[in-house]
Amino acid sequence: MQSSTPSALPAACDFTVFGGTGDLALRKLLPALYLRDRDGHLPDDTRIIGVSRSELDDAEYRDDVRAALAEHVDADRLDPDVLDRLLRRVHHVRLDATAPEDWHRLHGLLKDRDAYDDAVRVFYLAVGPSLFDPICRRLEEIGVTDAGSRVVMEKPVGHDLASARSINDAVGRVFEESQIFRIDHYLGKESVQNLLVTRFANTFLEPLWNSRWVDHVQITVAESLGVGDRGGYYDQSGALRDMVQNHLLQLLCLVAMEPPTYVGRETVRDEKLKVLQALRPLTPADVERDTVRGRYGAGLVDGVPAASYADDLGHADGRAETFVALRAEVQNWRWAGVPFYLRTGKRMDRRTSEIVVVFKEPPHAMFPHSEGGTTANRLHIQVQPDEGMRLHLTAKEPGPGGIRLRPVSLDLSYATAFDQASPDAYERLLMDVIRGNPTLFMRRDEVEAAWSWVEPILTAWAASPARPKSYPAGTSGPIAAAMLLERDGRTWQEPDQ
Ligand SMILES: NC(=O)c1ccc[n+]([C@@H]2O[C@H](COP(=O)([O-])OP(=O)(O)OC[C@H]3O[C@@H](n4cnc5c(N)ncnc54)[C@H](OP(=O)(O)O)[C@@H]3O)[C@@H](O)[C@H]2O)c1
Repeated sequence: MQSSTPSALPAACDFTVFGGTGDLALRKLLPALYLRDRDGHLPDDTRIIGVSRSELDDAEYRDDVRAALAEHVDADRLDPDVLDRLLRRVHHVRLDATAPEDWHRLHGLLKDRDAYDDAVRVFYLAVGPSLFDPICRRLEEIGVTDAGSRVVMEKPVGHDLASARSINDAVGRVFEESQIFRIDHYLGKESVQNLLVTRFANTFLEPLWNSRWVDHVQITVAESLGVGDRGGYYDQSGALRDMVQNHLLQLLCLVAMEPPTYVGRETVRDEKLKVLQALRPLTPADVERDTVRGRYGAGLVDGVPAASYADDLGHADGRAETFVALRAEVQNWRWAGVPFYLRTGKRMDRRTSEIVVVFKEPPHAMFPHSEGGTTANRLHIQVQPDEGMRLHLTAKEPGPGGIRLRPVSLDLSYATAFDQASPDAYERLLMDVIRGNPTLFMRRDEVEAAWSWVEPILTAWAASPARPKSYPAGTSGPIAAAMLLERDGRTWQEPDQ
């Protein structure tokens, strides 16, 4: 899903990370920048500026970055010369985003360079969303934004439609939409981009990719971990806001979208938006029937005892759901009547992100006297881990005598098909920001359309006396999630099927 109009690498870049000492910066952003630097992809004249309230000088911050890279980059990819080069690029600015008197420090550092007018300035907001507005206002006030600047927003962009609009308005007062990069890191994954290539750079799928031949689609994003020490944050959010509103709906869009005329900056986003706008709105009765929310209890994950959500949270008054399953429909010519089943949860039996497109059974049983039966063809796209694709077919088992039918699969494993490791999604996305290519980022109208669809679910749940259904840690979720499909004569596709 590369843009057909690749953007040029700037000669100079100041990459400022607000929240430079945080988990996201140290675990994901700095390692991604290191790995791109290692391959010579960063502009030579790049500085990386971590911003936080911590009392750190450059040397102390560099020590923290060095330790983070040692922890989060594979040892065989850590080259001492590249590491030294990267660390020389790194600076720390102590600044409370809400304290106007601190901002002269960032102003001073950004201005203190030869190529100030030519440098692309990236402002990465790796802080809570309440700081997005004050940070953007101050950046404008101190005069370090220009037409070449970019701002990067992490999820969550709001906790409902109104707050998303308010954040988008605040950031939009300072930056043009073309300068705003809203990250959904799922879109940076190789397998997700390959989904579009598979659909649109080959001919065999397109005639089948519609309600005539597709029975239904399943999208699963499961984690085996619980909320850990982020329970306080998570309990304000829950699985619907944290995962469905962004990652799962983005995956659904890529499966369901029409082919754009070409893959370009806006064309893919235009098509994704149409899918979001075509999602059938859920009434309170639909929410009751077509959604399931769950919360993990104690159990065993991989044979190891795992605590309940209440225990992880430290109290029993948690509000959030840690699991969601739902049935969605895309109301357009291609997909009319085809259910899209989405599920996501924490503390499940495995960690996986996968899309399964289940095709219809053959219209006529041609092998009435055979052993074994036909099974519906399925295209299984594994987003993580072990990125790849499997096409499930029915074949004749070799041998004399009668015909015995057996399910077989054509497997494409990225690891074996391509002799190189897939880059982390952040590596691709950060380079797209530096180059100014927004194709893989969410546009404002997409984010707001996704909230518009999700919000009636939040409202109906809030009004309902029902509590999330309990499921034991280490399982595939509450029984009600299985019943959601059984009711339609279907079952969730599990890995051994
Ligand atoms: N971690 C992830 O994997 C991840 C993934 C997706 C989205 N996100 C989102 O990204 C944001 C950051 O997440 P995180 O996990 O990195 O959080 P975190 O570990 O709590 O880090 C927060 C960072 O913000 C800084 N900060 C807080 N208040 C500040 C202020 N007033 N002025 C300047 N700096 C301030 C903190 O440093 P000081 O306390 O020293 O100021 C720290 O560097 C959150 O909105 C989160 O939802 C995180």
